Formats: sequence, structure tokens, C-alpha cells
Amino acid sequence: MHTKAQFVRTMFAHIARSYDPMNRLMSLGCDQAWRRYAARQAALPQGGLALDVATGTADLALALTRGHPRARVVGVDFCPEMVELGRAKVAMAGENPRIHFVMGDALQLPFTDGCFDAVTSSFALRNVADIPQAFAEMSRVLKAGGRMVCLEIARPTLPLFRQFFHIYFYRLVPLLGRILAGQGEAYHYLPNSLTHFLSPEELKAVMERVGLSEVWYRRLMPGTVAVHVGFKEAEESHGRRRQALPQTPTCSQVKAANTAGGESW
Ligand SMILES: C[S@@+](CC[C@H](N)C(=O)[O-])C[C@H]1O[C@@H](n2cnc3c(N)ncnc32)[C@H](O)[C@@H]1O
Repeated sequence: MHTKAQFVRTMFAHIARSYDPMNRLMSLGCDQAWRRYAARQAALPQGGLALDVATGTADLALALTRGHPRARVVGVDFCPEMVELGRAKVAMAGENPRIHFVMGDALQLPFTDGCFDAVTSSFALRNVADIPQAFAEMSRVLKAGGRMVCLEIARPTLPLFRQFFHIYFYRLVPLLGRILAGQGEAYHYLPNSLTHFLSPEELKAVMERVGLSEVWYRRLMPGTVAVHVGFKEAEESHGRRRQALPQTPTCSQVKAANTAGGESW
């Protein structure tokens, strides 16, 4: 495994227990609203099937099922400690018949081509070793006519707010991480992962390069997060993508569903 992947997996294993409360705190209580907004952009059809890549503790997977009452979600992640907490949360919410977890790598998704109506990710791509490869994989497993939605932290552009954000994100967050979660190193990594991450415009360009069309993004919360949306062209015609999506595949089409612990829908 790539050294970055090993580092990331170990880090999330260490911070798994404090991950959700730290998210609420660092985002000043806004992160779940951002996920709800992202989930709505997936616009799943009745009974549709979504893939949430790097699902972690399943907050976006839950936002997807809550926002689309008849939809089902597969959450894939490579960190068992995060997924374990996600599983417990999903069970507590009574959503376990609709959310299924699969252990796997975002850079090599264990699914056949074109089997999901929507593919989503939140706060994940900064952590992958090869962003174009992650998008290529997400696009590969997306159905023609389906949507890709990506929620990520962004560097704000408003000059004054930018300075405030810098102090908050690069000074205060690592301090809070050390004091409250006892994980100074992990919460030092978090801001650094943004420093080397793509701008929303660059992210849009990567999505276009992997073949998505009409890619757009919206910045939320004075520009500190961005939601990107792209469409995978339906083969027949450009005009079809906003019409009803094709029938959802049966679970037998999701290759990994039978290989991950024998769970069924
Ligand atoms: C910051 S958390 C985001 C979790 C969740 N999506 C959310 O909104 O809270 C990042 C997650 O990405 C996962 N991850 C990072 N790189 C991955 C990869 N290459 N394959 C699968 N999961 C990955 C980590 O294990 C972790 O659970």
C-alpha cells in the first residue's frame, strides 16, 4: 500500500472515536447541514443506489438515505475503525437495511462499471494519494446519466475572512485537536492537507478531465467548503441526463456486496 494511504488509514483509526464530535466543533455545527446540501445534489431517483466513497462514520450516507426516502447507499472505506462507528450509527438510526458497508480503496473501487445512480464523497479527497485516479474510479462506477457530488474544504477568497480562517484552521484546530481529542499530530495534518489540496477551479478541471460534463461548484460558509457536482453523459443524448435515471441495478451487480461479511440488503 502507498505510504500516504498507510499514514491516512492509521491516523483515522486513531482519531475515529473523536472524529464526529471534533467535526461538529471545528465546523461550528455546520458540517451536517453541508452534507445535507451535498446529499440533495445527488438527486437520486426513486429506489436509486448511491455509492459514498470514503464514507468514514457514514454521515453523508445517512444524509443520502434521509434525503431520498427510498434510496439505498453503499459506503466504501479502507479504515475499519471508522466504518465500525458508522455501522453502529446507522444501526442506531434504524437505517441498516438501506446502508451497506464495504471495505475497499477509493483508488481501486471493488465494483463493476456503471452500477450507481450517484457517487458522492465528503472531506475525503484531500486524503487520497492520487486525486485524478480517485475521480476516474468514481466516474467508472457511475451510471451514464448519473451524478457525482463532492464536498470538500476550500481556501476562502474574501481577504479578511481568509486571515481569520488561516488563524482558526492552522492554529486553533490543531490546538483543539491536542486538548480535546489528544491527537495533536492528526489535527496538525488536517490543515496541511488543505495547503496542498486543489482549488475548487482545479477540482472542477479534474472532474472534467475524467469525462464528467456540466461540472459546477458552489462555495458554502464564506467559501470554506465547496460542493462540486458533475454529470456523466448518457450515451444516447445530452438532453436525457435530467430525466428519470435508468432502473437501479440489483445488488448482484454490486460486485463487492457479496464479499463483505455476507451482509444482505
Ligand atoms: C475526513 S474522513 C471523511 C469521512 C466522511 N466522508 C465524512 O464526511 O465525515 C476521510 C475518510 O476517508 C477514508 N479514506 C481516505 N483515503 C481512502 C482511500 N484511499 N480509500 C478508502 N477510504 C479512504 C478514511 O479512512 C476516512 O474514513
